[in-house]
Amino acid sequence: MNPTTAPGPDTERSVAYDAFHSARARTGLVGRLYAEAMGEDYPAEVAASSSCDWPLLALMTARLRMSPGQLLVDAGCGTGGAGLWLARALAVRLAGFDLSTVAVSQATARRRYFLGDATARADFRVAELHRTGLPDSSAHGIVCVDALGRSTDRDRAVRELGRILAPGGRLVMTRSVRRSRTPSWAEQAGAAGLTVEHIDERPAEPAMWARLYRLWVAHADDLRRELGDTQATSMLNEARQMLPALPGRRAVLLTLHRPPDTPETPGPADRMGAPDRHGGRPTPDERTPQ
Ligand SMILES: C[S@@+](CC[C@H](N)C(=O)[O-])C[C@H]1O[C@@H](n2cnc3c(N)ncnc32)[C@H](O)[C@@H]1O
Repeated sequence: MNPTTAPGPDTERSVAYDAFHSARARTGLVGRLYAEAMGEDYPAEVAASSSCDWPLLALMTARLRMSPGQLLVDAGCGTGGAGLWLARALAVRLAGFDLSTVAVSQATARRRYFLGDATARADFRVAELHRTGLPDSSAHGIVCVDALGRSTDRDRAVRELGRILAPGGRLVMTRSVRRSRTPSWAEQAGAAGLTVEHIDERPAEPAMWARLYRLWVAHADDLRRELGDTQATSMLNEARQMLPALPGRRAVLLTLHRPPDTPETPGPADRMGAPDRHGGRPTPDERTPQ
Protein backbone atom coordinates (compact mmCIF):
# COMPACT_ATOMS: atom_id res chain seq x y z
CA MET A 1 0.00 0.00 0.00
CA ASN A 2 1.46 3.29 -1.05
CA PRO A 3 1.22 6.21 1.40
CA THR A 4 0.17 8.75 -1.19
CA THR A 5 -3.33 7.69 -2.17
CA ALA A 6 -5.93 10.32 -1.26
CA PRO A 7 -7.53 9.64 2.15
CA GLY A 8 -11.30 9.41 2.72
CA PRO A 9 -13.43 9.52 5.90
CA ASP A 10 -11.92 7.71 8.92
CA THR A 11 -14.51 4.96 9.30
CA GLU A 12 -14.49 4.24 5.59
CA ARG A 13 -10.70 4.08 5.69
CA SER A 14 -10.51 1.82 8.73
CA VAL A 15 -12.95 -0.60 7.05
CA ALA A 16 -10.80 -0.52 3.91
CA TYR A 17 -7.60 -1.18 5.90
CA ASP A 18 -9.32 -3.96 7.86
CA ALA A 19 -10.31 -5.56 4.55
CA PHE A 20 -6.77 -5.24 3.19
CA HIS A 21 -5.09 -6.73 6.26
CA SER A 22 -7.65 -9.58 6.48
CA ALA A 23 -7.24 -10.40 2.80
CA ARG A 24 -3.44 -10.28 2.95
CA ALA A 25 -3.44 -12.70 5.90
CA ARG A 26 -5.47 -15.23 3.88
CA THR A 27 -2.87 -15.63 1.15
CA GLY A 28 0.88 -15.50 0.66
CA LEU A 29 0.42 -13.90 -2.76
CA VAL A 30 0.68 -10.25 -1.65
CA GLY A 31 3.84 -10.97 0.35
CA ARG A 32 5.34 -12.84 -2.60
CA LEU A 33 4.73 -9.86 -4.87
CA TYR A 34 6.36 -7.47 -2.36
CA ALA A 35 9.30 -9.90 -2.17
CA GLU A 36 9.61 -9.97 -5.95
CA ALA A 37 9.43 -6.17 -6.21
CA MET A 38 12.07 -5.63 -3.49
CA GLY A 39 14.36 -8.52 -4.45
CA GLU A 40 17.13 -9.11 -1.95
CA ASP A 41 16.13 -5.95 -0.05
CA TYR A 42 12.92 -7.69 1.15
CA PRO A 43 13.04 -8.44 4.89
CA ALA A 44 10.78 -11.51 4.87
CA GLU A 45 10.08 -11.70 8.59
CA VAL A 46 8.98 -8.05 8.72
CA ALA A 47 6.52 -8.64 5.87
CA ALA A 48 5.42 -5.01 5.82
CA SER A 49 2.71 -3.54 3.60
CA SER A 50 4.96 -0.62 2.84
CA SER A 51 8.33 0.45 1.52
CA CYS A 52 10.02 -1.10 4.56
CA ASP A 53 13.06 -2.85 3.13
CA TRP A 54 16.47 -3.73 4.62
CA PRO A 55 17.99 -0.31 3.82
CA LEU A 56 15.07 1.41 5.58
CA LEU A 57 15.43 -0.79 8.69
CA ALA A 58 19.14 0.04 8.77
CA LEU A 59 18.52 3.78 8.39
CA MET A 60 15.78 3.84 11.06
CA THR A 61 18.04 1.92 13.44
CA ALA A 62 20.80 4.47 12.95
CA ARG A 63 18.63 7.58 13.08
CA LEU A 64 16.62 6.66 16.19
CA ARG A 65 19.73 6.54 18.41
CA MET A 66 17.81 4.70 21.14
CA SER A 67 19.09 2.91 24.24
CA PRO A 68 17.86 -0.44 25.64
CA GLY A 69 14.73 -0.10 27.77
CA GLN A 70 13.51 3.12 26.15
CA LEU A 71 10.04 3.36 24.59
CA LEU A 72 9.61 3.22 20.81
CA VAL A 73 6.24 4.10 19.28
CA ASP A 74 5.28 2.64 15.89
CA ALA A 75 2.68 5.05 14.51
CA GLY A 76 0.40 3.49 11.88
CA CYS A 77 2.10 0.18 12.64
CA GLY A 78 0.00 -2.05 10.38
CA THR A 79 0.72 -5.63 11.36
CA GLY A 80 3.66 -4.50 13.45
CA GLY A 81 6.65 -6.06 11.66
CA ALA A 82 8.84 -2.96 11.48
CA GLY A 83 8.26 -1.90 15.10
CA LEU A 84 8.75 -5.44 16.41
CA TRP A 85 11.93 -5.89 14.39
CA LEU A 86 13.29 -2.61 15.81
CA ALA A 87 12.16 -3.49 19.35
CA ARG A 88 14.07 -6.76 19.14
CA ALA A 89 17.15 -5.23 17.50
CA LEU A 90 17.39 -2.28 19.90
CA ALA A 91 16.08 -4.03 23.07
CA VAL A 92 13.51 -1.27 23.51
CA ARG A 93 9.89 -1.35 24.65
CA LEU A 94 7.27 -0.88 21.94
CA ALA A 95 3.87 0.79 21.75
CA GLY A 96 2.31 0.42 18.32
CA PHE A 97 -0.99 1.80 17.11
CA ASP A 98 -3.04 1.67 13.94
CA LEU A 99 -6.44 2.68 12.65
CA SER A 100 -7.23 -0.93 11.75
CA THR A 101 -8.40 -3.32 14.47
CA VAL A 102 -7.49 -6.26 12.22
CA ALA A 103 -3.91 -4.99 11.86
CA VAL A 104 -3.64 -4.42 15.61
CA SER A 105 -4.75 -7.96 16.44
CA GLN A 106 -2.33 -9.43 13.88
CA ALA A 107 0.51 -7.30 15.31
CA THR A 108 -0.36 -8.46 18.82
CA ALA A 109 -0.20 -12.09 17.68
CA ARG A 110 3.28 -11.53 16.18
CA ARG A 111 4.88 -10.39 19.43
CA ARG A 112 5.97 -13.89 20.47
CA TYR A 113 7.78 -14.52 17.18
CA PHE A 114 9.93 -11.42 17.63
CA LEU A 115 10.19 -11.14 21.41
CA GLY A 116 9.81 -14.71 22.67
CA ASP A 117 8.50 -14.76 26.24
CA ALA A 118 8.98 -11.00 26.57
CA THR A 119 5.66 -10.23 24.86
CA ALA A 120 4.87 -7.68 27.59
CA ARG A 121 7.57 -5.49 26.09
CA ALA A 122 5.22 -4.62 23.21
CA ASP A 123 1.68 -3.34 23.22
CA PHE A 124 -0.55 -2.60 20.22
CA ARG A 125 -3.72 -0.56 20.27
CA VAL A 126 -6.26 1.01 17.94
CA ALA A 127 -5.61 4.75 17.68
CA GLU A 128 -5.14 7.47 15.10
CA LEU A 129 -2.17 9.55 14.15
CA HIS A 130 -3.86 12.76 15.24
CA ARG A 131 -5.29 11.20 18.42
CA THR A 132 -2.87 8.62 19.81
CA GLY A 133 -4.11 8.52 23.41
CA LEU A 134 -0.47 8.29 24.56
CA PRO A 135 0.86 10.57 27.34
CA ASP A 136 2.86 13.74 26.72
CA SER A 137 6.62 13.18 26.30
CA SER A 138 6.23 9.41 26.72
CA ALA A 139 8.17 8.18 23.65
CA HIS A 140 11.96 8.21 23.33
CA GLY A 141 11.59 7.38 19.63
CA ILE A 142 8.79 7.19 17.08
CA VAL A 143 8.73 5.51 13.69
CA CYS A 144 6.01 6.14 11.14
CA VAL A 145 6.39 4.10 7.96
CA ASP A 146 4.12 5.00 5.04
CA ALA A 147 1.25 6.04 7.30
CA LEU A 148 1.41 9.85 7.54
CA GLY A 149 0.48 10.27 3.88
CA ARG A 150 -2.79 8.49 4.70
CA SER A 151 -3.74 10.97 7.43
CA THR A 152 -6.57 13.39 6.75
CA ASP A 153 -4.71 16.13 8.65
CA ARG A 154 -0.93 15.70 8.44
CA ASP A 155 -0.13 18.95 10.29
CA ARG A 156 -2.23 17.82 13.24
CA ALA A 157 -0.75 14.32 13.11
CA VAL A 158 2.82 15.65 13.25
CA ARG A 159 1.87 17.95 16.16
CA GLU A 160 0.37 14.96 17.99
CA LEU A 161 3.48 12.83 17.40
CA GLY A 162 5.57 15.80 18.59
CA ARG A 163 3.45 16.01 21.75
CA ILE A 164 4.20 12.40 22.73
CA LEU A 165 7.93 12.67 21.91
CA ALA A 166 10.20 13.10 24.93
CA PRO A 167 12.92 15.77 25.01
CA GLY A 168 15.95 14.44 23.17
CA GLY A 169 13.79 11.94 21.25
CA ARG A 170 13.46 11.45 17.50
CA LEU A 171 10.54 11.01 15.15
CA VAL A 172 11.63 9.06 12.08
CA MET A 173 9.15 8.93 9.21
CA THR A 174 8.94 8.11 5.56
CA ARG A 175 7.68 10.91 3.35
CA SER A 176 6.88 10.92 -0.33
CA VAL A 177 6.42 14.20 -2.17
CA ARG A 178 6.07 15.47 -5.70
CA ARG A 179 9.44 16.73 -6.94
CA SER A 180 7.76 19.86 -8.26
CA ARG A 181 6.42 20.82 -4.81
CA THR A 182 8.22 22.40 -1.87
CA PRO A 183 7.92 19.90 1.00
CA SER A 184 5.94 21.02 4.05
CA TRP A 185 7.95 19.05 6.59
CA ALA A 186 10.06 21.97 7.91
CA GLU A 187 6.90 23.95 8.81
CA GLN A 188 5.24 20.86 10.25
CA ALA A 189 8.32 20.13 12.36
CA GLY A 190 8.51 23.73 13.62
CA ALA A 191 4.81 23.74 14.57
CA ALA A 192 5.43 20.56 16.58
CA GLY A 193 8.47 22.04 18.38
CA LEU A 194 10.84 19.76 16.47
CA THR A 195 13.85 20.37 14.25
CA VAL A 196 14.71 18.61 11.00
CA GLU A 197 17.83 16.62 11.86
CA HIS A 198 18.29 14.47 8.74
CA ILE A 199 16.72 14.04 5.33
CA ASP A 200 17.85 10.71 3.88
CA GLU A 201 16.99 10.37 0.21
CA ARG A 202 15.52 7.03 -0.86
CA PRO A 203 16.03 7.27 -4.62
CA ALA A 204 15.27 3.61 -5.34
CA GLU A 205 11.84 3.68 -3.65
CA PRO A 206 9.60 5.02 -6.45
CA ALA A 207 11.02 2.37 -8.80
CA MET A 208 10.23 -0.33 -6.21
CA TRP A 209 6.59 0.87 -6.07
CA ALA A 210 6.49 0.84 -9.88
CA ARG A 211 7.72 -2.78 -9.95
CA LEU A 212 5.18 -3.77 -7.29
CA TYR A 213 2.26 -2.07 -9.04
CA ARG A 214 3.18 -3.66 -12.36
CA LEU A 215 3.24 -7.02 -10.61
CA TRP A 216 -0.23 -6.36 -9.17
CA VAL A 217 -1.53 -5.55 -12.66
CA ALA A 218 0.20 -8.59 -14.17
CA HIS A 219 -1.30 -10.83 -11.47
CA ALA A 220 -4.76 -9.24 -11.56
CA ASP A 221 -6.53 -12.58 -12.02
CA ASP A 222 -4.56 -14.21 -9.19
CA LEU A 223 -5.32 -11.26 -6.89
CA ARG A 224 -9.05 -11.51 -7.69
CA ARG A 225 -9.03 -15.25 -7.05
CA GLU A 226 -7.05 -15.10 -3.79
CA LEU A 227 -8.19 -11.80 -2.27
CA GLY A 228 -11.69 -11.45 -3.68
CA ASP A 229 -12.99 -8.98 -6.21
CA THR A 230 -13.41 -5.96 -3.92
CA GLN A 231 -9.92 -6.03 -2.44
CA ALA A 232 -8.26 -6.84 -5.74
CA THR A 233 -10.11 -3.99 -7.46
CA SER A 234 -9.03 -1.56 -4.77
CA MET A 235 -5.37 -2.59 -5.17
CA LEU A 236 -5.55 -2.46 -8.95
CA ASN A 237 -7.12 1.01 -8.82
CA GLU A 238 -4.31 2.16 -6.54
CA ALA A 239 -1.74 0.69 -8.94
CA ARG A 240 -3.25 2.37 -12.00
CA GLN A 241 -3.65 5.68 -10.20
CA MET A 242 -0.11 5.74 -8.80
CA LEU A 243 1.96 4.29 -11.66
CA PRO A 244 2.01 7.40 -13.89
CA ALA A 245 2.92 9.69 -10.96
CA LEU A 246 5.86 7.69 -9.62
CA PRO A 247 8.63 9.06 -11.88
CA GLY A 248 7.92 12.55 -10.48
CA ARG A 249 8.06 11.54 -6.84
CA ARG A 250 10.78 11.92 -4.24
CA ALA A 251 10.95 9.50 -1.28
CA VAL A 252 12.86 10.30 1.89
CA LEU A 253 13.32 9.19 5.46
CA LEU A 254 12.89 12.25 7.61
CA THR A 255 14.33 12.50 11.11
CA LEU A 256 12.82 15.14 13.39
CA HIS A 257 14.42 15.84 16.74
CA ARG A 258 13.03 17.29 19.95
CA PRO A 259 15.80 19.28 21.62
CA PRO A 260 16.76 17.84 25.01
CA ASP A 261 15.68 19.51 28.25
CA THR A 262 18.21 20.39 30.90
CA PRO A 263 19.41 17.25 32.74
CA GLU A 264 17.64 18.18 35.99
CA THR A 265 14.16 18.04 34.40
CA PRO A 266 13.63 14.49 33.14
CA GLY A 267 10.45 14.02 31.08
CA PRO A 268 7.76 11.41 31.74
CA ALA A 269 9.51 8.99 29.35
CA ASP A 270 12.42 8.80 31.79
CA ARG A 271 10.05 8.05 34.66
CA MET A 272 7.74 5.64 32.80
CA GLY A 273 8.33 2.03 33.69
CA ALA A 274 6.19 0.48 30.95
CA PRO A 275 4.54 1.31 27.67
CA ASP A 276 1.18 0.00 28.74
CA ARG A 277 -0.89 -2.15 30.96
CA HIS A 278 1.40 -5.15 30.39
CA GLY A 279 4.29 -3.30 32.03
CA GLY A 280 7.91 -4.23 32.51
CA ARG A 281 11.18 -2.71 31.37
CA PRO A 282 13.14 -5.35 29.48
CA THR A 283 15.99 -7.04 31.22
CA PRO A 284 19.00 -7.97 29.07
CA ASP A 285 17.95 -11.64 28.98
CA GLU A 286 14.60 -10.69 27.40
CA ARG A 287 16.39 -9.78 24.22
CA THR A 288 15.53 -12.35 21.59
CA PRO A 289 18.45 -13.56 19.48
CA GLN A 290 18.11 -12.59 15.82
C1 LIG B 1 0.94 1.44 4.07
S1 LIG B 1 0.39 0.75 5.57
C2 LIG B 1 1.92 0.70 6.48
C3 LIG B 1 1.84 -0.12 7.72
C4 LIG B 1 3.16 -0.29 8.49
N1 LIG B 1 3.70 0.98 8.93
C5 LIG B 1 4.16 -1.04 7.66
O1 LIG B 1 5.24 -0.51 7.41
O2 LIG B 1 3.86 -2.17 7.27
C6 LIG B 1 -0.43 2.14 6.30
C7 LIG B 1 -1.06 1.83 7.64
O3 LIG B 1 -1.45 3.06 8.21
C8 LIG B 1 -2.68 2.88 8.88
N2 LIG B 1 -3.31 4.20 8.96
C9 LIG B 1 -3.79 4.95 7.94
N3 LIG B 1 -4.28 6.12 8.39
C10 LIG B 1 -4.08 6.10 9.73
C11 LIG B 1 -4.37 7.02 10.78
N4 LIG B 1 -4.95 8.20 10.53
N5 LIG B 1 -4.06 6.68 12.04
C12 LIG B 1 -3.47 5.48 12.30
N6 LIG B 1 -3.17 4.57 11.35
C13 LIG B 1 -3.46 4.87 10.09
C14 LIG B 1 -3.41 1.86 8.05
O4 LIG B 1 -4.40 1.17 8.78
C15 LIG B 1 -2.29 0.95 7.58
O5 LIG B 1 -2.14 -0.18 8.43
